Amino acid sequence: MNDKLPVPITLDTLASMKQRGEKIACLTAYDASFTRLLEACGVDMFIIGDSLGMVLMGYESTVPVTMDDMVHHAANVARVGQRCYRVVDLPAHSYDDPVTALKNARRLVDEGGAHMVKLEGGTGKAAIVEHLVSHGISVCGHIGLLPQSVEEYGGYKVQGRDAAGAAAILADAAALENAGAEMLVIECIPAALTARITGSVDSPVIGIGAGVDCDGQVLVLYDMLGMAPEPHARFVKDFLQENGNIHAAVAAYVAAVKDGSYPASEHCY
Ligand code: KIV
Repeated sequence: MNDKLPVPITLDTLASMKQRGEKIACLTAYDASFTRLLEACGVDMFIIGDSLGMVLMGYESTVPVTMDDMVHHAANVARVGQRCYRVVDLPAHSYDDPVTALKNARRLVDEGGAHMVKLEGGTGKAAIVEHLVSHGISVCGHIGLLPQSVEEYGGYKVQGRDAAGAAAILADAAALENAGAEMLVIECIPAALTARITGSVDSPVIGIGAGVDCDGQVLVLYDMLGMAPEPHARFVKDFLQENGNIHAAVAAYVAAVKDGSYPASEHCY
């Protein structure tokens, strides 16, 4: 029996994967059993996402999710996680000002075992990111489609389709990196814009609905296990259907991210 502990994946590991062009396979995780399974299948990074409000709690959006919800699920994952890097979402309105953001980010780190916290927004959130980073918190910025603002958009819509929209997202990426963010998640943008963003920043860029030209991919775990409600987004692929069991489905997802076969053109905008 191999009883050696797995080597934990750090931010340095992820940064060097970007450097050498090795894709980062990321999934959402919210509980202990899936954490063990996903780690055994070779996933590199978890996002403990506020998508849990929709897939676990039955809300129609991520907006009602609370700090207590996030701490609870992040701690479930941290309790058993041994290998994957853990990025935990700050929920809606938990980072409206720098002082509140820092208090809540510290909870995610201290009580939820976060290695990094994620917040939604670009140039408008740069001051918050700077404040968190100056107090020793690692930050991931989430740009493109911002699910916490879905009520303002009037639905889940692809972002950055025209020149002005694309320029604004590129400016968001630059502002976040200048503020000290060490990772970006980009959601629901045209694949051609993704290549420009990934090439414009040093930090790892993780995409969801953003095409193949980023440093890694993330999907909501329940979506890639065929449980996305219909009609589901174009980028969602059901890996369970063709692989028969959860372990094989996750291993196939990891392999497809690593060899660049997911996302394919039919999953892109
Ligand atoms: O909430 C979430 O699950 C996320 C990712 C899938 C990017 O933010």
